[in-house]
Amino acid sequence: MKAAHRRIKMLTAYDYPTAAILDECDIDAILVGDSLGMVMLGYTSTLPVTIEDMIHHTRAVVRGAPHTLVVADMPFASVTVSHERAIENAARLIKEAGADAVKVEGGGPVCERVKGMVEAGIPVMGHLGLTPQSVGVLGGYKVQGKDERSAMEVIEAAKALEQAGVFAIVLECIPARLAEVVTSTVQVPTIGIGAGPHCDGQVLVLHDLIGLTAGHVPKFVKRYADLRKDLAMAVSQYAKEVDEGVFPDEVHSFGVSGEMTGRLY
Ligand code: KIV
Repeated sequence: MKAAHRRIKMLTAYDYPTAAILDECDIDAILVGDSLGMVMLGYTSTLPVTIEDMIHHTRAVVRGAPHTLVVADMPFASVTVSHERAIENAARLIKEAGADAVKVEGGGPVCERVKGMVEAGIPVMGHLGLTPQSVGVLGGYKVQGKDERSAMEVIEAAKALEQAGVFAIVLECIPARLAEVVTSTVQVPTIGIGAGPHCDGQVLVLHDLIGLTAGHVPKFVKRYADLRKDLAMAVSQYAKEVDEGVFPDEVHSFGVSGEMTGRLY
């Protein structure tokens, strides 16, 4: 798609029904992101997410989206723990959960792990820039690569990941110009989130774009719906109608023959 200048559209999904909707739409890849920790499980970061959580949610997504490439995130510490365990964990996401590929955050020492996974036959997507699993080390959820030194680090890490064998790289929260340079430097596609319009593809957290997440909305998110409001309205209307005896009405109830009614008492 990069060679043909066709932009790659990726979205997150964490469950069967949303995966089934994405599978029917013009979406090229689904990411079962470890953002599920915040979006689905109510944690305040992605750090508590386990490999078991990832397997559980990836299985549901794979069942819902048989026609779409499914990429599963390697959660915090599942890669750094050891070379062997990293490959083992990645293999579980492919073998037990049915993912087509895994995504790994970071560059530097992570590249060795990526190489091992690729050699073991596991397709790997990289992830650079703001890598939420390193939020403590990065000092918060901040735009990365803003000065020359850190921008060069992102470019070098992208080259190293490509060398290690990744098939694509997510670029998160970096200046648009830096993303453009990385995109023209590497042969593999870049997929941006908060990285401007010059990447080969884009990804967003689905719940952000449909307006299901509460609280702060990052600058790079565009809301295409306000489902939180719609859901709250639907639920409130249901509660009101049950309170008032409006629902269930005759239309939503089952009847029996008059003869049978007579015999019930
Ligand atoms: O976990 C996730 O959803 C991600 C995307 C934000 C790229 O990694």
